[in-house]
Amino acid sequence: MRIAIFGSGYVGLVTGACLADGGHHVTCVDVDSERVARLRAGESPIWEPGLEELLRGNLAQGRLEFTDDPAEALEDARVAFVAVGTPQAPDGSADLSYVDDVARRIGELARRDLLVVNKSTVPVGTAARVRALIEEGLAARGAGHRVGVASNPEFLKEGAAIADFKHGDRIVVGTEAAEDEELLRLVYEPFNRQREKIIAMDIPSAELTKYAANAMLAAKISFMNEIAAISEAAGADIERVRQGIGSDPRIGYQFLYAGAGYGGSCFPKDVAALAHTARQAGCEPRILDAVEAVNAHQKGTLLRRLDELLPGLAGRTVAVWGLAFKPRTDDVREAPALHLVRGLLAAGCTVRAYDPVAAGTFAAALGEEAARVEFTDSALDAARGADALAICTEWEEFRAFDAEGLAERMAGRLIVDGRNLYDPARVAAAGFAYASVGRRTAGLPAEEGAGQPPAGSPSRAAIPASIRS
Ligand code: UDX
Repeated sequence: MRIAIFGSGYVGLVTGACLADGGHHVTCVDVDSERVARLRAGESPIWEPGLEELLRGNLAQGRLEFTDDPAEALEDARVAFVAVGTPQAPDGSADLSYVDDVARRIGELARRDLLVVNKSTVPVGTAARVRALIEEGLAARGAGHRVGVASNPEFLKEGAAIADFKHGDRIVVGTEAAEDEELLRLVYEPFNRQREKIIAMDIPSAELTKYAANAMLAAKISFMNEIAAISEAAGADIERVRQGIGSDPRIGYQFLYAGAGYGGSCFPKDVAALAHTARQAGCEPRILDAVEAVNAHQKGTLLRRLDELLPGLAGRTVAVWGLAFKPRTDDVREAPALHLVRGLLAAGCTVRAYDPVAAGTFAAALGEEAARVEFTDSALDAARGADALAICTEWEEFRAFDAEGLAERMAGRLIVDGRNLYDPARVAAAGFAYASVGRRTAGLPAEEGAGQPPAGSPSRAAIPASIRS
């Protein structure tokens, strides 16, 4: 089948590359001509395992094309996916201007029957809005073909997006006509062989399914972060509690990890957007508001720990391991590390940072402040001369605790771990003070471990109150 995909960002590219790999003929269209040129050369603008190989293979086979001309993409397409960004507007709602632009272009340009499938994460009611915009364009030029709309949200995890697309748990398809559902079944046929994965429904339900799924996962994390705070206060161990409750199949083990707060391009934005939709519909999103509030507080946890445990934070050197919002991606959007590093710089610390792939995107996100951060080529190098080490992302390479390597390089003996990577007793036995999330701090008194404040530094509370909470 001939398929057009609007938007060559994360979702559009993964969708395009996978559909081409399944045997369809796919044309991806993007307004950014520079991006299009790079993609034509087989260069992926994002770091996602397996994506570049898929792009190159399908480009070479002629099943995948890139253009900045929507008319070209629509020429023979039977189905057009909309996979453009829906950033967060200042009021928390999803900004639909890119979706609207695509709908208008389709209204102006469609020359045959077409099914427009929304893959962008959009509020309930967006498909109807897209249909209205397209119909306006068709009517203005007296075009008589049928343009249907459908909702087909994605459930791709960064770092595992190709596998999620090809072997996902479900394919949610929201349509308003049987023929549209049938067409989408054909699109997904290559990925629906092992068992029936298509869950067909009406359009508003499909649109809400995406938000409800992400909000539920975010709620699990915020719930565990709240239990972690109670654990610490009560002298319990969140990792034991996690195992204790995860063993109940009604709860399950996944997404029960307490940590430095969730980040990424989806959870923060989607929880806010769903809360906004709820309010607009006259509902009070009590749980969603709490999920967000707990997470905002949680993102400050590493900074508060350092402020507590490292006397005289200003003038200290802090090593930061892990800058991406999670492992196996270079995405730093809403990453806990951004919050931490900004806070450390504001407090007057020297920051030495390491991430296997995200240093570049992190520096870009920091802007001018990046000049004040020293990015290193290895984790151990970041630890050189550091009074404390803060861990923000659970990259595999951090998992084995290298007590000797750290002791040799660090000036102090404090580790603040936002991902609970190590056994507290083992870290303490190696002579470090070790603060993690939802567990007792091990190896205190920190005064012995963390070293003395540098001469002339203020004794405490170096972090401005605005960043501290
Ligand atoms: C998420 C959804 O999982 C995916 O289905 C949806 O399509 C897009 O949003 P993604 O943003 O790539 O995917 O990341 P995910 O792996 O879900 O992690 C989100 C955040 O939650 C990360 O910051 C991660 O560190 C954090 N997290 C996850 C926890 O803090 N604890 C957990 O137990 C799990």
